[in-house]
Amino acid sequence: MNYVNFNNAGSSKSFNSVDEAINNYLLIEKKYGGYLAEFIYKKKINRFYKSLAKLIKCNENEVSFLQNSTIAWNLFLNSIKISKNDNVIILDNEYGSNFIYFKKNSINIRISKLKKDGSVCIKDLESKIDENTVAICVCHIASQCGDIIEVEKIGRSIKQKNPKALFIVDACQSLGQVNINVKKIKCDVLVGSGRKYLRGPRGTGFIYVNSNVLNFVCPNILDLKNSKIVQDKIKIVKSKIFENFEYSPALKLGLTEAIDCINKKSIQKIELDIRKKSSYLRFKLKKYNKIKFYENTKLLSGINTFNIEGINSEQIYNYLIKKRILSSITKKETCEFYFKKNKIKSLNRISIHSYNTFYEIDYLIKCLIDLIQK
Ligand SMILES: Cc1ncc(COP(=O)(O)O)c(C=O)c1O
Repeated sequence: MNYVNFNNAGSSKSFNSVDEAINNYLLIEKKYGGYLAEFIYKKKINRFYKSLAKLIKCNENEVSFLQNSTIAWNLFLNSIKISKNDNVIILDNEYGSNFIYFKKNSINIRISKLKKDGSVCIKDLESKIDENTVAICVCHIASQCGDIIEVEKIGRSIKQKNPKALFIVDACQSLGQVNINVKKIKCDVLVGSGRKYLRGPRGTGFIYVNSNVLNFVCPNILDLKNSKIVQDKIKIVKSKIFENFEYSPALKLGLTEAIDCINKKSIQKIELDIRKKSSYLRFKLKKYNKIKFYENTKLLSGINTFNIEGINSEQIYNYLIKKRILSSITKKETCEFYFKKNKIKSLNRISIHSYNTFYEIDYLIKCLIDLIQK
């Protein structure tokens, strides 16, 4: 029996056609050499922009292909000016690595707390926005909690309160499982990774930067791809602005294939299916008082976190591995605020994708019930 992957929020099972696209291209590279292969495949490789633009509803020139969300996040924030008197607002579900960026750069952050039920407190958020607010950064779905944050509501409120403040969305966990329309969200920047709900290869990601913002952004890393020297002055190429010369065409083709598959299947259908499967899992375990889930069922995604009374997270994880079920543990490093607020040290995480079958979910449920009743 193969492992059942319920760690899609870590890294999902890629589409078969993604693996094929990568393997085929590597053979082409071997045959023609890296540069000629790229030249021959240029059109296919560049389809990445069209495919992603279709998925998140933006223009092709507004996206750059990168390795992961963290790189995208750092590259963007390093490319804008944040002075001592400025402030950046985050929610108290912020991802640990993103938070490290603010710490390292001694940025004045303001934290807006989510309500007890996981929804956004717009009043509190607005009270923190002022004329010195440079950016509002929001994790669309956090790593440690599957609640979907109402980014459209936030976008509307930010643009009313301070239109100059940038709205930056970390869609690392939501892309591929939630329908995202950057224009509706009114976000200026959005980052994502390929290996999670998009079902693309590891080591892939991207950044979307709204074309208005592109005008005042100066990337930290410049080379012959995103800049040129004209009359002794550096001129930045405004399209695909964060890309540099070297990248992996094979992985870019793989990610494009994954996005095409999602587009073909329809993200709306995937979103509904995932929510249905999460609800099913939780419903079937509802009567077992020893298991406690942490999400708000009204904001449900594929990410389900829980504790089981009397059994620690490692024991649960190891037990599931023995049953050939992949899951994950999330700890306070992921988001100190969240774990402190909920007075918990760690959580087990089951992250369901639409390719997971009800048969697989029933098997998981049976294993969890056996464990609770041991
Ligand atoms: C919410 C969130 N943001 C950002 C990241 C970082 O993504 P990456 O590892 O692709 O840089 C993760 C990783 O799990 C995440 O869950």
